[in-house]
Amino acid sequence: METVLLTGAASGIGRATAWRLARLGHRCVLVDRNAEALEGLLAELRAQATGGDVLDARASRVSGSLPDAPATAKVEHLARVADLTDPGQINALADDMPPLDAIINNAGMTDASNLPVVEQAERDWQRLLDLNLHAPPRLLRALQGRLTPHARIVNVASGAGLHAIPLRGAYSPSKAGLIALTQALARARPDLRVSVLCPGFVQTELVDGLIASGRLDPTRAVAKTPLGRLARPEELACALAFLASPGAAPLSGSRLSVDGGSSVFGGSQAYAPNAIAPVPCDTPLALTVHGHWPGLPDTDTATETETETKMRDGYPAVIDTTVLDSRPGGRLAATLAAARRHGMSDGPGSLTLLLPRIDQADWEHAGDDAAARMLIATLACEWGPRARRINAVEVASSHPDPALWPLLRFVAGAQAQYLTGQTLCTR
Ligand code: NAI
Repeated sequence: METVLLTGAASGIGRATAWRLARLGHRCVLVDRNAEALEGLLAELRAQATGGDVLDARASRVSGSLPDAPATAKVEHLARVADLTDPGQINALADDMPPLDAIINNAGMTDASNLPVVEQAERDWQRLLDLNLHAPPRLLRALQGRLTPHARIVNVASGAGLHAIPLRGAYSPSKAGLIALTQALARARPDLRVSVLCPGFVQTELVDGLIASGRLDPTRAVAKTPLGRLARPEELACALAFLASPGAAPLSGSRLSVDGGSSVFGGSQAYAPNAIAPVPCDTPLALTVHGHWPGLPDTDTATETETETKMRDGYPAVIDTTVLDSRPGGRLAATLAAARRHGMSDGPGSLTLLLPRIDQADWEHAGDDAAARMLIATLACEWGPRARRINAVEVASSHPDPALWPLLRFVAGAQAQYLTGQTLCTR
């Protein structure tokens, strides 16, 4: 059992993440300023732990995607009320804090004033920055004595940190700052495992509020999203639970954009709402590995892996390693060949390619490497309406590392159903 501190736990993505972590058998330290909602969540989690967990634990054994926690395991979750814009309240969290295996900095706010930046009240501007940008490093400083070795730090930024959103005050700057801070922290503290999640549009209270006030048009948000829908909070919860796990270590220093492909889309056509419903996140993986790579457990061409093979109604996923065998300058062609091999079917499913890490000194083939990555993004934009996903994971082809397997399973599987068009850098 691991202990995970989660901020902003009382609603939206945080609440879904608390449930996910609890179901995985972790102990949660839930932090929020909303005392009433936090207490309510804690009571529900406790009731679930003592009464209703049997069904969940059994289901998890069938799917293989959740650990085999004893069905009757009783986990003592904790709740701490704190306003994270206040450095004093952050420091006070260190009192009686148990050892932490992971911190998820999820609490965040948007700007509701609808005012141009130069007309913003100084207090509102500062409060947003204090929560979205300054609270995560303050929390790390306050709690670093409580972290276990190789603890994971996961920050929740936003697609708004990659593309500017007008009339949201400091929101975009704060999230851009958090992305950069995460990457700098990973370099400065190699003893930690640090990553940043950039969600796209997620159907939470925050987004419902923006829709209700007329500041977000859901049809237009969907129109910019290749997968043709908003994310469900549980999809972000799955991503956060994965990033907070030891299996995410190869992603340290990386950004994970779980956004339905919106960050890679640059076209002008509008996507229609997707008629294909997503499958539940815990749908078992029906995996085919195509090609050979000693880091994977079973690498015979087109061989399905063990228990996953027999599940006809699993989430269809292919991991294709063949680009690793292509010569420098041949990556674009090998990527296209893999797409042609696997990209024809309809309905939910994924293709995950393994790409060799870019050799920075090889200027002659830099164009081919970049073209292959943009092809992955382009295919994601074309396949999204069919609920087909494509992503790539960069690996050191000469040193296959079995430690990448949890990451590959996550990217390929139904838990990452809102992830598409991304090339993930691993260390
Ligand atoms: P939410 O508004 O539903 O939940 C935020 C939680 O943070 C609430 O429980 C709230 O009480 C808590 N909180 C707010 N101010 C706080 C403070 N000063 N101290 C302690 N707790 C505080 O938000 P949602 O949608 O779940 O977002 C979670 C994170 O995801 C945020 O960082 C947000 O910026 C980010 N995000 C959300 C997206 C979306 O579409 N919902 C898209 C991209 C990023």
